[in-house]
Amino acid sequence: MSTKIAICPGSFDPPTDGHINIIKRARKQFDKIIVAIAKNTSKNTIFTTEERIEMLREIFKKCKDIEVDSFDGLLVDYCRKIGCHTLVRGIRNMSDYEYEFQMALANKTLYPELEFIYLMTEGQYSHLSSSIIKELIMLGGTSAGMCHPIVEKKLKEKLKK
Ligand code: PNS
Repeated sequence: MSTKIAICPGSFDPPTDGHINIIKRARKQFDKIIVAIAKNTSKNTIFTTEERIEMLREIFKKCKDIEVDSFDGLLVDYCRKIGCHTLVRGIRNMSDYEYEFQMALANKTLYPELEFIYLMTEGQYSHLSSSIIKELIMLGGTSAGMCHPIVEKKLKEKLKK
């Protein structure tokens, strides 16, 4: 019997509780989830790839079916390289939908066998984003209920520097 694998790609700069919720829900549908951190995104990241890997590995350390990896260049090339043709992403609102729609069509053009599964956010995460969490912590707020304690700790360390 073949192993059902899906990739959850993203910037994860930093991971939010919304990301964690989507990944944990995705794992119920697959044997293995690969959380794939994009090294180069159009966004200026605050955390290095190694720091993002470290946070996600810590968050999922008890989940044997979740692997954390990173990739350079195109997502479709990474999917081909590891032989996976299923992507899982979360959707919070209409602007996510439009962004995902565009990305999906572009990725599908490049890799027609690729399929996409979208999980709708659970209500309590619909307002969360990596940038909101960064701003909250950088300005002295608390992010309880929005991100894992390791993320808050790492953001505070960045602030000190
Ligand atoms: O968490 P994000 O920033 O919404 O994730 C976006 C991500 C990383 C999935 C997307 O930017 C991506 O796939 N980047 C890798 C480069 C690539 O393949 N770009 C073409 C996308 S159509």
